Amino acid sequence: MISSFDTLAEVAFARDLLRRWWGLELGLADPAALDGRGTVRLAAAVDALGASAVAAVIAALRTVKKPGIVDAGGGVLVIAAPVMGDKGIAGIVYATGARAGDVTAVPEGVTPSEASQLQAGLTALSPPELERARDLVVGAANAVERAQPAVIPPTTNVHPFTEIVGDAPAVRDVVKLLTKIVRSEATVLIHGESGTGKELIARAIHYHGPRAKKPFVVQNCSAFNDNLLESALFGHVRGAFTGAVKDQPGLFQVADGGTFFLDEIGDMSAALQVKLLRVLQEGTLMPVGGTKAIKVDVRIIAASHKDLAHMVQHKMFREDLFYRVNVLKITVPPLRERVADIPRLAQHFITKHWRSPGAPPKLSQGALSRLVAYPWPGNIRELENEMERMLVLAGDAQELTAGMISARVAGIVNGAQSAPRPLRDVLATSEAEVIVSALGRHLGDRAAAAADLDVSGPYLDARILSLGLDHVP
Ligand SMILES: Nc1ncnc2c1ncn2[C@@H]1O[C@H](COP(=O)(O)OP(=O)(O)O)[C@@H](O)[C@H]1O
Ligand SMILES: [Mg+2]
Repeated sequence: MISSFDTLAEVAFARDLLRRWWGLELGLADPAALDGRGTVRLAAAVDALGASAVAAVIAALRTVKKPGIVDAGGGVLVIAAPVMGDKGIAGIVYATGARAGDVTAVPEGVTPSEASQLQAGLTALSPPELERARDLVVGAANAVERAQPAVIPPTTNVHPFTEIVGDAPAVRDVVKLLTKIVRSEATVLIHGESGTGKELIARAIHYHGPRAKKPFVVQNCSAFNDNLLESALFGHVRGAFTGAVKDQPGLFQVADGGTFFLDEIGDMSAALQVKLLRVLQEGTLMPVGGTKAIKVDVRIIAASHKDLAHMVQHKMFREDLFYRVNVLKITVPPLRERVADIPRLAQHFITKHWRSPGAPPKLSQGALSRLVAYPWPGNIRELENEMERMLVLAGDAQELTAGMISARVAGIVNGAQSAPRPLRDVLATSEAEVIVSALGRHLGDRAAAAADLDVSGPYLDARILSLGLDHVP
């Protein structure tokens, strides 16, 4: 059950010191050993006396509920600390081989001559020494506890969209809505930060609906310049521009009969917004350079990380298009607002990306604590990447431990205790945060952001470039 005891660095460290300083023997008793069904590792003097001395030690271990020192009878001391699991005590880490000062009492079942032999083989420890030994045992027990497999609560949210993992109330709402949405033909708008699962949801709508056997086409509207995007979406006719040597159908035609996922629709230019509106209103489009309208039957799912309603207010998005697109709206929460789903999602990605035969490695409790503490600005995509990275680092280890977590994800946990960081990194990080949030407040309008930050436009541009933020919308 606890597989990692002998491989943990903290255990090796404690075992080594306990042996060298006082001749004590460190061991782990799991519930089977405490029931007398397994073996326990004891100091040679205890072991040499056989069954009755061993039984006395095991009986003492059974009484351990918190870290401390127990007298197993006759002054034979057991220094022990429990390892807590999800169902209470999962095992006891202990050290044997110590005795309290001079004792005359004899452990039960041990003859007086055996008892003196036992006393001779044990080390008398002073109270301060006992305290140090207890600290080492507690350290080892804590390490075992951290390395234990994490307990991933099973999901209680059962639904046909099995690819969507999550129990959070917001996810339940999304899934409930999906059941209705897949049966309709209405346009859907999915709002959420990058990496929250917008495309996954769009795919679910397509593949669980009546258009499943027809194409699902994706286009990110912020990735292209305007001319290229127009030609990609609506196609072009021969001679429409230099290089247009033949008629080229657009993605709307490719998606005919199916679903078109328009990602980052908030980045579409005003001119293209008009053309898209026409597709939504009339079901027709005009290829670049064309004169004849083409009819298409496409269900549109649009996504944006920007608040389109807010953009409409500021005349950055057409109001009529907004109402056409915003028929059914799904809001996907950022991962930091559904922290309780992190264990299940982490587990899901371990299984998803495990390529070797046999069972995938288990996530340790210590690793999970760190994953849960990180704020995940890149949301589920960032978590998925982290899990893939851990699987690579794990090789054929059976556990994904805290040490395999990237510095970026692990570092933020113990702010004060974490490794010292160069001051320039700290400054750059805070500067970047302030700039990004100003750009967010002003929907990417750099002039407005610069005014807000009380710097000149060119200075802001230079900082954006230098901090590598030029990809930020
Ligand atoms: N609820 C979820 N359950 C399982 N995997 C998810 C979930 N949400 C997102 N993912 C995965 O995270 C990654 C990023 O999701 P994606 O849909 O591309 O996000 P977005 O479109 O919002 O940027 C994908 O690999 C996706 O499969
Ligand atoms: Mg996306």
